[in-house]
Amino acid sequence: MSSKSINLFVILAVLAFAPLCFCHKTNGGCLYPQFYDRSCPRAKEIVKSVVAKAVAREPRMAASLLRLHFHDCFVKGCDASLLLDSSGSIVTEKISNPKRNSARGFEVIDAIKSALEKVCPHTVSCADILALAARDSTVLAGGPSWVVPMGRRDSRSASLSGSNNNIPAPNNTFQTILTKFKQQGLDIVDLVALSGSHTIGNSRCVSFRQRLYNQSGNSQPDRTLDQSYAARLRTRCPRSGGDQNLFFLDFVTPTKFDNNYFKNLLSFKGLLNSDEVLVTQSKASRELVKKYAANNNLFFEQFAKSMVKMGNISPLTGSRGEIRKQCRKINS
Ligand code: HEM
Ligand SMILES: *[C@@H]1O[C@H](CO)[C@@H](O)[C@H](O)[C@H]1NC(C)=O
Ligand SMILES: *[C@@H]1O[C@H](CO)[C@@H](O)[C@H](O)[C@H]1NC(C)=O
Repeated sequence: MSSKSINLFVILAVLAFAPLCFCHKTNGGCLYPQFYDRSCPRAKEIVKSVVAKAVAREPRMAASLLRLHFHDCFVKGCDASLLLDSSGSIVTEKISNPKRNSARGFEVIDAIKSALEKVCPHTVSCADILALAARDSTVLAGGPSWVVPMGRRDSRSASLSGSNNNIPAPNNTFQTILTKFKQQGLDIVDLVALSGSHTIGNSRCVSFRQRLYNQSGNSQPDRTLDQSYAARLRTRCPRSGGDQNLFFLDFVTPTKFDNNYFKNLLSFKGLLNSDEVLVTQSKASRELVKKYAANNNLFFEQFAKSMVKMGNISPLTGSRGEIRKQCRKINS
């Protein structure tokens, strides 16, 4: 071979393996955006169109789908364990601590999966569907876009205890929440940026009632909650009853993905205790909140980065796990 053709050969070889060279290294393996380019070129567009229909029907669905990816990744990595229903030896994660047992959007994931199975059977993992749906939902709500690395495979088990222990509770302290993020390889910057998800979606009364009536067991409301906002919340979130009543996480722009969440926090109008502690319990975190409240672009940029980082938590790659045919159950 001439030196020219050797050069060409080297260039072609490098290009052929480019996806592998530039993959996102994770603690589970290697994910890359082109994963389905040959095996299911329409994968991304199919996911997007089903998500778009669902969000057009109900704007809140964007929030619900975004949250599913988070709840998946924090339990044994982004492996779609969250989607499994109870069956045989599997105990579903969907019944974890009642405070968090409000995950929804599973029918939309089913609809995406069945659309994909028609076009490329047994090819696209449920874990990758969750990652794509989270991105598409964010964009549809007006938030930033990012390129989604893929190649995750689906677990053959679920972890109810993992779900109870790893996902932060709304009444956890700042330190506890940060510790739970660090256990996943995420840092304080990721914590504050990703909490910005609470710029869309709803919470039930039961998730923040403690703040309104008896924050620290002394029958006093949370002093760090704006008192007129608290009074308004009490009208539909009584001392007892109304547990399932819904409230906007960001009451100013409830369905728009923007940095208004951080502005609310600075005026002590964060809905969840876990929101408000980002400004009341850590100076470093408060500085980040101030930055994102002042600069929407900065928030968007960091949110996109942190979503990719969260999506990289311990995926199953290569021949580990499987590609489920239905997201709710393991293959037989
Ligand atoms: C930092 C710790 C976090 C805590 C303590 C927390 C807690 C909660 C709680 C209690 C709710 C309301 C549940 C209910 O009562 O129905 C909620 C909703 C939500 N969370 Fe979080 N969350 C956290 C982080 C995150 C992250 C990292 C994301 C996404 C990346 C996220 C996305 C959402 C979304 C979009 C909703 C609204 C869901 C809907 O309307 O269906 N959260 N969260
Ligand atoms: C948080 O809420 C749970 C469930 O309602 C409760 O058992 C626990 O005592 C609360 N923790 C704190 C620190 O208030
Ligand atoms: C407030 O919480 C404390 C400790 O959880 C409890 O002993 C007390 O009865 C509660 N007070 C009211 C008014 O519910």
